Amino acid sequence: MNVVMIGTGYVGLVSGACFADFGADVMCVDIDPGKIERLRRGEIPIYEPGLDELVARNAGAGRLSFTTDLAAAVREADLVFIAVGTPSRHGDGHADLSYVYAAARQVAEHLTGYTAIVDKSTVPVGTARQVGRIVREVNPQADFDVASNPEFLREGAAIGDFMRPDRVVLGVESPRAEALLRELYRPLNLIETPIVVTGLETAELIKYAANAFLATKISFINEMAQLCEHVGGDVHDVARGIGLDGRIGRKFLHPGPGYGGSCFPKDTLALIRMAQEAGTPSRIVEAVVEVNAAQKARMVLKIRQALGGSEAGKTIAVLGLTFKPNTDDMREAPALAILPPLLDRGAHIRAHDPKGMPEARSLLPSAIDYCDDPYSTLDGADALVLLTEWNEYRGLDLDQVRARMTGRVVVDLRNVYDPAHMTARGFEYHCIGRVDQAV
Ligand code: UDX
Repeated sequence: MNVVMIGTGYVGLVSGACFADFGADVMCVDIDPGKIERLRRGEIPIYEPGLDELVARNAGAGRLSFTTDLAAAVREADLVFIAVGTPSRHGDGHADLSYVYAAARQVAEHLTGYTAIVDKSTVPVGTARQVGRIVREVNPQADFDVASNPEFLREGAAIGDFMRPDRVVLGVESPRAEALLRELYRPLNLIETPIVVTGLETAELIKYAANAFLATKISFINEMAQLCEHVGGDVHDVARGIGLDGRIGRKFLHPGPGYGGSCFPKDTLALIRMAQEAGTPSRIVEAVVEVNAAQKARMVLKIRQALGGSEAGKTIAVLGLTFKPNTDDMREAPALAILPPLLDRGAHIRAHDPKGMPEARSLLPSAIDYCDDPYSTLDGADALVLLTEWNEYRGLDLDQVRARMTGRVVVDLRNVYDPAHMTARGFEYHCIGRVDQAV
């Protein structure tokens, strides 16, 4: 089976490499010749555990190749996936579909024989149908179907998520496209992966609903954390106590500085816009977004309060900058909302992140000092702020931490340390939603 993947961003590259691993012949297409050249040399533009080996193995076996020649690739294809970016359009929160539609136009020009054109990017309801209209307009003779096959990949765990998904969602309109997609995903039958087959619009909505629901869980538990701080409770016990109810589930109830990343912020906004335009506003998702912004702002206050009411002239050591561990992705990272106000009020920030520093440098104010390792970050610091729960920060030698710091304030925004243990080690420990941490 010949598969073309248009767009070698995160989703396209992971999906292309995984489909090749399933046994398909996959051609990844991108308009950026430099990127294609680097991919051909085996250089992976993003950090994703296991992706370099997967690409190397499948490229070596001749099942995965890279090209800028969309025309030639599409002519041979049984399935063309569109996995180009859909950033939030500036100002209105709508997903910007110009790349998707441009890809559809180009694909349309080069179709030969029956081809299924599949949206893999997260796109608003109605996009697949619009792609179909565009293809028909550009090439009225084309023999094709459109389909929607949203991905549910987590950065840092994307390959595992692709190879062992909870489900595969196929939005289709024709048995022919469904059969092709089922054939492509056939290796997953071995592990009895449920395949949810729906219409186009439903599949598109499932993706938004899934992300909005997960974001809701996070904002909900962050609100409960705040309540715990004020009434004297432990949010971890609340999460466990409710999560053991099978209807609620234990996952995604970890409090933190607010969700970030390339999906939740963008997809919740797009869903809000879609619902408003449909005349059925989603008050729940609107509140989820507000609570998330407030959570990030609250973290600034928490740090300020931990520093005795003012950060002016204080040195803050920040460990972790990416929106979560095991990625170099800084998009919508809480660090982007939390650190600038601290700098504005006169804090001096020293920071470390295992993978995120190059991107952080281009996104955060230049006043930040970046350090080569976690311990040197702590030199002379009045406070340590843990922003991202990388494993290497979980296992820090606390005696060394204490010795390197001038002050003893620790603000743990991911609740990775044990409060009693930290206090016993001589730290003035602050975290989220565990007794006496009020802001
Ligand atoms: C998410 C979805 O999980 C994935 O299915 C979808 O395809 C894309 O969006 P990702 O953005 O990679 O994936 O990150 P995820 O691991 O889901 O975390 C998102 C954010 O929520 C992070 O900022 C994380 O720190 C935060 N989070 C997650 C919490 O604050 N608490 C939790 O309990 C879980």
